[in-house]
Amino acid sequence: MIRAVIFDLDGVITETSRQHFQAWKAVAYMIGVEIDSTVNESLKGVSREESLKIILKYGGILDKYSKEEMEKLCFCKNEYYKQLISQFTPANVFEGVVEMFEYLRGKGIKIAIGSASHNAPALISAMALEPYIDYIVDPGDVKRGKPAPDIFLKAASALGVKPSECIGVEDAVAGVEAIKAAGMYAIGIGDAEVLKEADVVFGSIAEIDLGIIA
Ligand code: BG6
Ligand code: MG
Repeated sequence: MIRAVIFDLDGVITETSRQHFQAWKAVAYMIGVEIDSTVNESLKGVSREESLKIILKYGGILDKYSKEEMEKLCFCKNEYYKQLISQFTPANVFEGVVEMFEYLRGKGIKIAIGSASHNAPALISAMALEPYIDYIVDPGDVKRGKPAPDIFLKAASALGVKPSECIGVEDAVAGVEAIKAAGMYAIGIGDAEVLKEADVVFGSIAEIDLGIIA
C-alpha cells in the first residue's frame, strides 16, 4: 500500500534546471571552463558542491582549487541562481502538479519534497505549494546526497512510513538511482532512454497515470 509520495523539486515540480545551468555556465566561464548540456545532465540532482567538482574535473582543473576557493565559487553560483528564481510565482508550477497533490491528499497519501537543493523551501513558498507538503527534507540533515538513498530515506522516516510504502518521483539519473537504492518505486520524469533504472517513465507530471499510485 502506498502511503507517501516523495517528489524531487528541480525539473519535477518546476523548471529550474535552465536557471541552475545558466548560473553554473556563468561561474564555469569565469574560471575558463565551457560546459554544455551533456555536462548539465550530470549536474542534475547533484549537490552544489559536487556539481562544482564535476565542472572542475571536466575542465581538468579540479586540483587547482582550494576548499575556500570552491566555497566562494559555490556562493557565487547560488547568488546568481537566487536572482534567476527571484520572480517565481505559482505560475511556475508545472501543469498537473496541483491536480496530483489534490488527488494524493484526497487519498490520504502524504507528500514530501526530497530535493538536494537548499533553495527548495523558498521555491515551495514562492509557488504557494506549502499547504500540500507534509515534509521538506533539509539536505543539510543527511550524510550523503543523491545517488545515495539518504534524502529519500529521511523523508520516509520523517513521515513515519516504510520505504516500501513510498513512491519517489525524479527527473535525474542520480535521483532515480537514489530512489531505487532506498527500496522505493521510482517514477521517472523525462526520457526513458536516460532514466533507464526507473520503474516507469512519463514525459511530465501531467502525463502520470494516477491509477498506478492508488
Ligand atoms: C538539485 C538540482 O535539485 O539541487 C541540482 O537538480 C542542484 O542541479 C542541487 O545542484 C542543489 O541545489 P542548490 O539550490 O542547493 O544549489
Ligand atoms: Mg531534479
